[in-house]
Amino acid sequence: MLLGNGAILGIDIGSNSIKVVELEEVGTNYQLKSLGEVPLARGSIVDKAIVNSDEVSRTLSKLIDDLGIEADDAAISISGDPVLLKRVSLPHMSDAELKKSIKWELEKLNTQAINEFSYDYQVLSAQAGKDMIDVLIVAANKNVTRDYLSILTNVGLNPVLIDLDVFSLQSVYEVNYPESTGLLALINIGASVTNVLIIDNGESVFAKDLPVGGDQYTDLIIDKMGLTYDEAEEVKHNLRAGLTDPAIEELADNFIQSISYEIKSILDHFSATHSSEKVKRIMIGGGSATLPGMNNTLSTVAQSYVGILNPFRNIDYSEAAFDPEYISDISPKMNIATGIALRKP
Ligand SMILES: Nc1ncnc2c1ncn2[C@@H]1O[C@H](COP(=O)(O)OP(=O)(O)OP(=O)(O)O)[C@@H](O)[C@H]1O
Ligand SMILES: [Mg+2]
Repeated sequence: MLLGNGAILGIDIGSNSIKVVELEEVGTNYQLKSLGEVPLARGSIVDKAIVNSDEVSRTLSKLIDDLGIEADDAAISISGDPVLLKRVSLPHMSDAELKKSIKWELEKLNTQAINEFSYDYQVLSAQAGKDMIDVLIVAANKNVTRDYLSILTNVGLNPVLIDLDVFSLQSVYEVNYPESTGLLALINIGASVTNVLIIDNGESVFAKDLPVGGDQYTDLIIDKMGLTYDEAEEVKHNLRAGLTDPAIEELADNFIQSISYEIKSILDHFSATHSSEKVKRIMIGGGSATLPGMNNTLSTVAQSYVGILNPFRNIDYSEAAFDPEYISDISPKMNIATGIALRKP
């Protein structure tokens, strides 16, 4: 089937679950057409590389069938280890010299980068009167990119685009918070990775993927309580459902404290190196963002306002087709998939 308006199916292949979002453009608005999530067997994706491609393909295929999705064109985004993100300041130079400098900066980051990564860069607004220009370098491991794209072809989809999770966050933010100005951080706290994007008056000025997430909390439960991964995930769910267990709550607190300090340290690094201003506003999303206490602790540790990033704030949906409670429950996990679905091929 051909989708109207060139809509594409957004697929977020996370290590904990696969999520899909399909949108329809109606006039100047977006309408939710389908959305869903399915857990992925642990170990299928490790350090954001696809280890068990059959399992990932099977799981995605089932999700698409269950949701009755008929889209052909699909897109994904990636993050974590297979991605390099670096902001550098360089003297003003010609385009040819800039390209050479960027190659060199990449090699400093990873000696194999030039052969194994495809890369691109974005010049951040060159301020008049400044000697230096700021550049955001982005690179993606070619083999990993190919593996992700082949998941789409395995399930009969036509891959039209691959992006980075941080830019999917930016897309979802732009559509849902168009009135927003100033300096703020978007933070997606997943299972294995936490994506950080700092936006200044609508422009991305800093990006980083931290190798931390809800898996650390799950692993604490596994270690301390002697449970399996599935049992530990179950315990996390029960806690969310209001079942309290002081021992588990303590582990949750440890995790929340530790990740809040990781986030604070990256925001401090940004302020110290790239900005005269401190980040005072944070919007969080991702499966681990709604852990009870996350918002308050992060707000205290980072001395910032912390809000929840809502991917459907400006996206309409039919309450007959989607239970509002389900949408509100699942929405923090849907930021990346929605951001991908918002992209134009
Ligand atoms: N409501 C919730 N409250 C707290 N933790 C949750 C909730 N829902 C999911 N989680 C946890 O969030 C994590 C999954 O988040 P998410 O779906 O964003 O990760 P992912 O995209 O699959 O993984 P990755 O980090 O590899 O991208 C898991 O650790 C899971 O236990
Ligand atoms: Mg994720």
